[in-house]
Amino acid sequence: MRKPIIAGNWKLNNNIQESVDLVTLLKRELTDLTGVDIVVCPVSTALSVVQDLLLESNIDVGAQNVYWEDSGAFTGEVSAPLLKDLGVKYCIIGHSERRQYFGETNETVNKRIKAALKHDLIPIVCVGEVLEERESGKAFDVISKQCEESLAGLTEEEAKKLVIAYEPVWAIGTGKTATPEQAQEVHKFIRDFLRKTFSDAVADGVCIQYGGSVKPDNIAELISQEDIDGALVGGASLKSEAFIEIVKQSSNSTQVTRNGI
Ligand code: PGA
Repeated sequence: MRKPIIAGNWKLNNNIQESVDLVTLLKRELTDLTGVDIVVCPVSTALSVVQDLLLESNIDVGAQNVYWEDSGAFTGEVSAPLLKDLGVKYCIIGHSERRQYFGETNETVNKRIKAALKHDLIPIVCVGEVLEERESGKAFDVISKQCEESLAGLTEEEAKKLVIAYEPVWAIGTGKTATPEQAQEVHKFIRDFLRKTFSDAVADGVCIQYGGSVKPDNIAELISQEDIDGALVGGASLKSEAFIEIVKQSSNSTQVTRNGI
């Protein structure tokens, strides 16, 4: 059994003041919750202030991307040791928007995961098929290739530290959610992949989040599925009431301990 994890992916939204306002509300409303891991992923310019505000709280901070080299002539990049230096705990890697707009591939996702793990950041690794792939019956082939190539070369100990987010691209920001059954089917497929590739301990310990138009009115049904262990929330994470409600409903779901850093 796994402790659920709800992460808010703010994408390119919220300046410093808006970030402060939002986390102040989250902190106040979510302070007593223990049955769920809570993460917010602000824009990089707000990471520091958000991290300071959430020190000694039950909400952790994640970055939205990380470069694989530690330092050097890589203008514009942010590295894992720099994120660690800020106190950041998680990092989203391979989000479909990065794959779609910024040339992210399974190979670069793999490099970023290894860099994050090397510096004790927990990667939230995103996988998911586009609509055309689902409609042509290729969803499982795509997910399988994404998992295989993105997680290539990881040891069992490293794999235990991952969080995986299944985000069907056709459900992101569209208001269309995968049905709980559709999502469960893919989550089980990913868990079976982890079992086959690594071990029972990895498969049973790794949290697999669902992402794609998660809202207060669909989270309960999604998270009640056996292999859905939380959510990566975009749009609804920008509204305090919606995010708070999603987190609260998730903390009422079954949980125990998750393998983590
Ligand atoms: P959404 O985004 O909740 O707005 O669909 C999810 C994501 O992209 O992580």
